[in-house]
Amino acid sequence: MIKLCNISDLKIGEKKKFKINENEILLIRLEDGFYAIDNKCPHAGCRLSYYGKISEGKRIVCTCHGAIFSLINGNVLEGPTKNSLKLYKIKIINEEVFLQAQESPP
Ligand code: FES
Repeated sequence: MIKLCNISDLKIGEKKKFKINENEILLIRLEDGFYAIDNKCPHAGCRLSYYGKISEGKRIVCTCHGAIFSLINGNVLEGPTKNSLKLYKIKIINEEVFLQAQESPP
């Protein structure tokens, strides 16, 4: 596991970008916890740390071209792409936020 930050580093509704190896990961804090997603929109790669707008119902809107993704499962809810948003697993231990190791592809 890789430590990203402390819980108190992000207020509810805030997001923060991390570079982990080759990946850019965007950590988002909502009322019910933390969500980690790929920072690059799967449509054309706009950075969600800049273009991403959190909206109600645990969604993120990429304001580049209007794609809307679910933060729960990464599914496309609307917009110009069929490619889902990549999600990462988060674990909270003693007020610290960790990124869980990714499984290797089969
Ligand atoms: S790059 Fe995000 S909607 Fe086009």
